[in-house]
Amino acid sequence: MISRPASPHHKTAHLTASDYQKAAGYLRRGGLVVFPTETVYGLGADAFQADAVDSIFAAKGRPADNPLIVHLPEVSWIERVAASVPAHAELLFRRFSPGPLTLILPRLPELPAAATAGLPTVGVRIPSHPVCRKFLIACGTPVAAPSANRSGRPSPTDAAMARREMDGRVHAILDGGPCEHGLESTVALVEERRIVVLREGAVTREMMQGVLGRIPVLAPNSTAEPELSAASPGTRHAHYKPAARVVLFEAGRLSAALAEGEGSRTGVITLMKRDAAAATGGGRETQVPGGPGSRHLLRSMKSVEDYAHSLYRTFVEFDHAGCDLILAELPPAGGIGAALRDRLRRAAGQE
Ligand code: TXA
Ligand code: MG
Repeated sequence: MISRPASPHHKTAHLTASDYQKAAGYLRRGGLVVFPTETVYGLGADAFQADAVDSIFAAKGRPADNPLIVHLPEVSWIERVAASVPAHAELLFRRFSPGPLTLILPRLPELPAAATAGLPTVGVRIPSHPVCRKFLIACGTPVAAPSANRSGRPSPTDAAMARREMDGRVHAILDGGPCEHGLESTVALVEERRIVVLREGAVTREMMQGVLGRIPVLAPNSTAEPELSAASPGTRHAHYKPAARVVLFEAGRLSAALAEGEGSRTGVITLMKRDAAAATGGGRETQVPGGPGSRHLLRSMKSVEDYAHSLYRTFVEFDHAGCDLILAELPPAGGIGAALRDRLRRAAGQE
């Protein structure tokens, strides 16, 4: 058993993708390992080693009442952590896994309570990232993992961001390159007669409804049932926030938003119109409105997917550039736009 990274002076091994077996070795011996997924980087421990799972909460500064997602290499492993898999959960997993979907199922009593914050349920996800899959197979055990950020901050979407959050707090960081989606997975609670989305992600409500037909798929906060807020503890905590204050604006309202931010060093995120993105070959140029000497930094996203992919990294870049205000355009709500709007609203403190 390796010693726990109790202090922030732990020596962290920085591993390239081909070293996934070495990363798995740290985890099997009770260590903490940061690993890539197609959504964001995760901070993993063996779900069946209660002490290792406890140390995740310490490394992140995470409230003990916020449960972790258990990551598996394939659907056939679900019964290692879940007591039962309702037919409609199986349909969803067959259609959308491996991929960015977490389903909340009844948990097996053998699973340590720390992994699920004492809840009778467990969040299960089968990631599609190729390095992640190899890592999970090499681990040979279900891997409990939250996003690899310190609690409340934006999730890391590449290994450099993960390193800034977790260097010295974990045994190893496995580099799998930039994450494809850039926003966390869809989290959905599976009930007998309905699915309730607790967190929006790349698998949208419409996509799930398309598979399930008559079983309703409800939007987050669409019912005022107090049991549901108990069922989604993550939504009680502040999330996804850069250090700078975030203010949102509707498309075409940038000037009004800039007026509000006057006097500050401001980072601006806009979404390029489709034709403008095409005209520049979908470029991601940084312009400086107001010309040289302007204190504004501008990041133009070429599509909603690019916006989702780059949001957290842009937040962190603006923080590093000393911005105290970030003005961010609200994208249309279709596709991953719904998840993006959710994260933007939370970053702006509007949840
Ligand atoms: O994409 C993702 O989901 C990433 C990667 C690493 O897989 N993970 C991630 O984990 O975002 P985390 O811990 O940052 O967010 C998990 C969310 C939290 O809001 C948590 O409350 C909720 O899922 N959750 C996990 N288990 C749950 C359970 N049994 N019941 C209700 N909500 C649960
Ligand atoms: Mg998180």
